[in-house]
Amino acid sequence: MLDDIIDYLEHIRERPVWQPIPDSVRARFHGPVPVAPTELAAVHDEFMRHILPFTAGNAHPGFMGWVHGGGNPAGMLAEMLAAGLNANLGGRDQVPLEVERQIVQWVRGLFGFPESATGLFVTGTSMANLIGVLVARTSALGLDVRRSGIAGSGRRLTAYTSEAAHGCISQAMDLSGIGSAALRLVATDDRHRIDLAALNGAIAADRQAGFTPFLVVGTAGTVDSGAIDDLAGLAELARREKLWLHVDGAYGALAILAPDLAPRLAGIEHADSLAFDFHKWGQVPYDAGFILVRDGTLHRDTFAAPAAYLRRETRGLAAGSPWPCDFGPDLSRGFRALKVWFTLQVHGIDAIGAVISRTCALARYLEGRIAQTPELELLAPVSLNIACFRFRSAQSDQVNARIVADLHESGIAAPSTTTIDGRLAIRAAIVNHRTRASDIDALVEAILAFGRAGVKNRAA
Ligand SMILES: Cc1ncc(COP(=O)(O)O)c(C=O)c1O
Repeated sequence: MLDDIIDYLEHIRERPVWQPIPDSVRARFHGPVPVAPTELAAVHDEFMRHILPFTAGNAHPGFMGWVHGGGNPAGMLAEMLAAGLNANLGGRDQVPLEVERQIVQWVRGLFGFPESATGLFVTGTSMANLIGVLVARTSALGLDVRRSGIAGSGRRLTAYTSEAAHGCISQAMDLSGIGSAALRLVATDDRHRIDLAALNGAIAADRQAGFTPFLVVGTAGTVDSGAIDDLAGLAELARREKLWLHVDGAYGALAILAPDLAPRLAGIEHADSLAFDFHKWGQVPYDAGFILVRDGTLHRDTFAAPAAYLRRETRGLAAGSPWPCDFGPDLSRGFRALKVWFTLQVHGIDAIGAVISRTCALARYLEGRIAQTPELELLAPVSLNIACFRFRSAQSDQVNARIVADLHESGIAAPSTTTIDGRLAIRAAIVNHRTRASDIDALVEAILAFGRAGVKNRAA
């Protein structure tokens, strides 16, 4: 199994990025629950033939869709070790928790947070953002909100983020019971960053109307175009307005590891909470989301709940309180920290920072190729590692959606799409450490070929 999966990674360039799933393969997964045992080798063979070839393909250098990390073998092997230990990191006195605490300490240091800040591994930034919203809610309404709920406070909370923010912020408002309607989507400037004047205006209008503004969410690396909000400006505004500042740094926060990009995150050190993923630009295998909270006491008070069966002791296996289950909703938790610990040690943060810089250089290279190609048009400034553009055409939205589907089915490259200023864009997010300039060239050539073929077909 180890040989096969290492061969897979070594020869990944020879494979299509993605390929359509034949009905016969899909049908294999509609069978009954197994009653009798099957040889491990037979199950592995089934995996090799019917699962491995039909994944999304984000380990492949031609994968440029959404924001997916490429993973790395050291992290993969750590996953195997973690599964062998079958460690449950909800709590108890065990060194795996010291590994997680070590990473919390590293993360604090990287982002300039104080020793009193607490951190937790979660699935991904969607969950980390939800935790950030919940701690901000507790900060605004006090601990009693956990018992009485939002309605018990009699206050109408409002939160603010930009129109370019990820949808999971709105979902976090919904899941927290505050309601997605209480999230104000503030306009962005010409660089797709939150417009601070418009934000000020929205807060003032809400106060006037009797609302209680409590939270502003900045984004470090918007999902559409990679824009980084003015975090120092947001920190200043949040301080003045007494709002909680949460930063969604899902993929962009780790730009802190790249010396050429880190200055663009100035102000992140003032956030009250910060969410990000190691599984995106950090190249750690899925999943490895992370939440960091400046006020560790408030973080714990938002989640900790005494239970007789989770009683803490000063010695024995039940020692070592507080436990991770005191900082989030999960009681059963895997050893996500191990693959991060392996990845950071085996590669070192300088190498990861260099990968991050290189992906941005590749996006600029793509921007250059778009500028030199009259049939292509850039739709948003390239601010980090994402380029949004289109093949020029009278029926642009339809044509570009078709080009992207053609690209996926060709196996050459896999960008995704988004909408920029009302127009459908081909969106290439370069996240993978394996991607090179030749992969960008292959993407451009294939887009031109599929675009031109479409023009020819319509003319015929
Ligand atoms: C800015 C931003 N926020 C949040 C998320 C959600 O993160 P996750 O998929 O890890 O839940 C993403 C995902 O791409 C993102 O780009």
